[in-house]
Amino acid sequence: MSSPILITGGAGFIGSNFVLEWIGNKRGPLVNLDKLTYAGNPLTLSTIENDPDYTFVHGDICDADLLQGLFQKYRFSAVLHFAAESHVDRSIAGPDAFLTTNIRGTFELLQAARKHYDSLTGAKRDNFRFLHVSTDEVFGTLSPDDPAFHEETPYAPNSPYAASKAASDHLVRAWHHTYKLPTLMTNCSNNYGPYQFPEKLIPLMIANALAGKSLPVYGDGMQVRDWLYVGDHCSAIRTVLAKGKLGETYNIGGCNQRTNMEVVHTLCNLLDELVPDSPHRPHRNLIKHVTDRPGHDRRYAIDARKIERELGWKPAESFETGFRKTVEWYLNNPAWVEGVTSGAYQHWIEENYGHRTGQTVSA
Ligand code: NAD
Ligand code: DAU
Repeated sequence: MSSPILITGGAGFIGSNFVLEWIGNKRGPLVNLDKLTYAGNPLTLSTIENDPDYTFVHGDICDADLLQGLFQKYRFSAVLHFAAESHVDRSIAGPDAFLTTNIRGTFELLQAARKHYDSLTGAKRDNFRFLHVSTDEVFGTLSPDDPAFHEETPYAPNSPYAASKAASDHLVRAWHHTYKLPTLMTNCSNNYGPYQFPEKLIPLMIANALAGKSLPVYGDGMQVRDWLYVGDHCSAIRTVLAKGKLGETYNIGGCNQRTNMEVVHTLCNLLDELVPDSPHRPHRNLIKHVTDRPGHDRRYAIDARKIERELGWKPAESFETGFRKTVEWYLNNPAWVEGVTSGAYQHWIEENYGHRTGQTVSA
């Protein structure tokens, strides 16, 4: 039997989409190491929990002894590092966990992978890969007319989250340069799709709109994000894993720049159509502009020409097709949303939104 790949953070949003596709399409054995923070939900993976190719390990990437034991036991053929604290607003409210998991955790994982790599010989050594999943937020913010972020754009992180991811990227780069660890890195734009925790813009707005709660748009809502369907991000990661050049980074994006107001209006129109008997129609009457996020980045945009040119990857979904699929998934899976929005979630909503003043905007 071939050695498994190691996924960190496979119970989170992007990781679980990756794991479900990988196991569903019988791509090989996989070990998922996840701490199950508030963002990790084992329910998401219940359909594959008995699959012989799937192993779940409940643990922390900061735990060096655990990592060493896992590498010795499974002799991984590759590491795909998704685990992170990922929400910008939480990083502003409490940066500690971001520095611990995103920086210390990445360091411990690199050390364990390096020790393992040094023990490999022949084809196993030639084929080993460490793929670090990162973000476009490391590049900072763009003005309306600036060209999109490319792989050589200088790092200029603005939030504690972005700074911690930038630090982890630098560690990965240094471990390749200094220790010759065969690394690959991806910097991706905003993802949306099934199983995204409803603290992020799109699932939060869907959950609030269905409940008839206000839709809290930060500031003027003219901030721009470049949206990518999560399945396309996963296919890009598989492409980089299979064909990426060692030590290189690849920017991944959907070429779908939208202002937050455009996203929220599109959502409201879609919900008006898909839930015609809702007492909250027209949903856009729920929009409320609230106090802005401190240090809010104005615009992100990704130049994804390198991964298309060199590896032949392109997204399959347009914003329109991916967005409709996503809204339909949330409408068809209320039990999943209820499962993740009890207890601690309510506390977060109070902490993040309780102090924001704002006004409702009628359409
Ligand atoms: P998420 O917050 O939904 O999931 C993170 C997962 O990591 C959770 O399952 C959590 O339990 C786990 N985790 C957290 N700390 C851990 C630790 N110390 N040890 C082990 N597991 C731990 O995140 P996501 O949105 O799926 O993002 C995954 C990765 O992709 C992150 O590295 C993020 O920076 C990056 N990324 C995200 C986006 C996006 O739009 N969501 C875009 C680009 C890049
Ligand atoms: O760009 C990639 C990044 O995208 C990832 O690295 C992060 O992990 C991911 O969280 C995401 O970061 P953003 O800060 O862009 O995503 P978020 O969904 O939190 O916010 C998207 C935009 O919507 C942003 O401009 C802030 C705004 N927003 C967000 C929330 C939660 C609101 O206006 N109201 C809200 O309630």
